[in-house]
Amino acid sequence: MRHQVVIVGAGPAGLMLGRLLELAGVDAVIIERKSADYVLGRIRAGVLEQGSVALMDRAQASQRMHAEGLIHHGIELSFDGDSHRIDFSELIGRQVMVYGQTEVTRDLMGVREATTIYEAEDVALHDLDGRPWVTYTKDGQTHRIDCDFIAGCDGYHGVARQSVPQQALTTFERVYPFGWLGVLVDRPPVADELIYAHHQRGFALCSQRSHSRSRYYVQVPADEQASAWSDDRFWDELRARLDPATAEALQTGPSIEKSVAPLRSFVAEPLRFGSLFLAGDAAHIVPPTGAKGLNLAMSDVAALADALIENFVEKSAAGIDAYSAKVLSRIWKAERFSWWMTTLLHTFPETGAFGRRIQRAEFDYLAGSRVAQQSLAENYTGVVTWE
Ligand code: APR
Ligand code: PHB
Repeated sequence: MRHQVVIVGAGPAGLMLGRLLELAGVDAVIIERKSADYVLGRIRAGVLEQGSVALMDRAQASQRMHAEGLIHHGIELSFDGDSHRIDFSELIGRQVMVYGQTEVTRDLMGVREATTIYEAEDVALHDLDGRPWVTYTKDGQTHRIDCDFIAGCDGYHGVARQSVPQQALTTFERVYPFGWLGVLVDRPPVADELIYAHHQRGFALCSQRSHSRSRYYVQVPADEQASAWSDDRFWDELRARLDPATAEALQTGPSIEKSVAPLRSFVAEPLRFGSLFLAGDAAHIVPPTGAKGLNLAMSDVAALADALIENFVEKSAAGIDAYSAKVLSRIWKAERFSWWMTTLLHTFPETGAFGRRIQRAEFDYLAGSRVAQQSLAENYTGVVTWE
């Protein structure tokens, strides 16, 4: 079998890349280890920057998003019960859209016309700095695909980054000493906008999927088990970390999903090795505090799609040669913002009294400075991710 591009991974990054290439007439096949139902079953975040919304429009996959997505003009920050709203629209004339990553994945699956091979096992990449080819097994049969380029959109644990020779790759990592215990519940959200709360008991986030489904998170030790938390214990802990009025307004109920996610910052460099390009979680991980994971994956594949289309349609390698440097500059800015939000809003075991005073002063500065609020608004709404 031969295709111009083989995309490994049918998460949002792989599906979006596949869609942009098929719309430009570039022949790309996607191979995915799991089934489509499994991919759709994963609960992930749900804040889209304007650049990601525009990319869904470009992919002609945005009808349901515009019908069901919620436009948010700001977020609320709370510090030990003191709250301050960051008004994106008033500060910089921008907004975000709340629309679950699962829905984005479902919509991209729905518009895909070209081939996606699900349940492809033992995917292996070959001859990356020569004439690349990919093998995989399915239904006991081994298959080979020859191609011009491979896009590694297979996430942090995928095969693509692992296929790059160690000496050709540099990685940068920070693992945080805590995780997020998340609960999904079919109750109306506690507030119209997201609330990011710092409390001496730990971080908390009030998020949502719709007017009737909410998503809440509390900071827990990194090795915490979700099974150690009854719903009641979760709701009590969440209330304890919110300002009294919000705690009072919280509508609780039985969790329909409960899990702990670790927090890490990770970047691999460079993002091209011969005919292999890395994008999305295969290239970088951000802690979810800045809502950058999905948006960074989208901006990666927008740049990669443009570069590959330029290569095949205009016969110019300028884009593919510039891809790694171009997206890494965005990635590091998004990493910086996600690290900064995480550092401001979480409690760190090793932070002493001095550190807590600094966190408080950072919040007070933010609450009192229009310039600081504009900087947060720029980063949160994606100015840096799509520059
Ligand atoms: N062979 C084939 N497919 C693979 C392999 C492999 N060896 N390893 C992983 N995959 C598939 C996974 O099953 C998954 O469906 O690659 C896909 C990667 O998808 P994601 O992990 O969702 O990564 P990405 O598309 O880059 O999306 C990034 O996901 O985790 C969130 O916060 C993150 O929002 C960001 C988004
Ligand atoms: C979510 O809705 O799951 C969510 C929203 C914002 C974040 C992280 C997660 O920063």
